[in-house]
Amino acid sequence: METFQFAVFCVAFYTFVVSSPIKEFYPKRDVATLKKYQMECVEDTKVDPDLVIRFKAGDWRSEQPSLKNWVLCILNKMGLMTMDGVYRLDEAMARVGTKDKDMAEKLIDQCLSTTALPAPDIAWKYVHCLHVNDPLGNYSSISILTP
Ligand SMILES: *[C@@H]1O[C@H](CO)[C@@H](O)[C@H](O)[C@H]1NC(C)=O
Repeated sequence: METFQFAVFCVAFYTFVVSSPIKEFYPKRDVATLKKYQMECVEDTKVDPDLVIRFKAGDWRSEQPSLKNWVLCILNKMGLMTMDGVYRLDEAMARVGTKDKDMAEKLIDQCLSTTALPAPDIAWKYVHCLHVNDPLGNYSSISILTP
């Protein structure tokens, strides 16, 4: 019986810890929450839904203020950024896997503006920078886009 339990433990450990690629760390329920935030923020910011659809399809050309507000709104609902554009590193670290914390911190550092900008611009730059520097979505848990 004990051997069997140990075997089950090993399989579970392998399945959930060893074999999971980093980008699958993002739990499924969080994707649902993220989609909910995306929708709520369309209402909150009155952004043109067409802009959002194009943005989610990978079109970064529109730098409309309403789209930037939408991005900030989602980061705020995720607890990653205040509406004043202050980044919550503790929240971000709680979202990434333990072994990725150093890489995540470097990435965040690189993606946060060092000059004073309006909050929606800070949010936009951050999300765009993550998109460029993490094309595989290893750190999608600290971005606003579903993996
Ligand atoms: C994302 O993960 C892949 C595969 O593990 C790795 O090759 C790549 O360097 C990672 N990218 C970043 C930005 O961490």
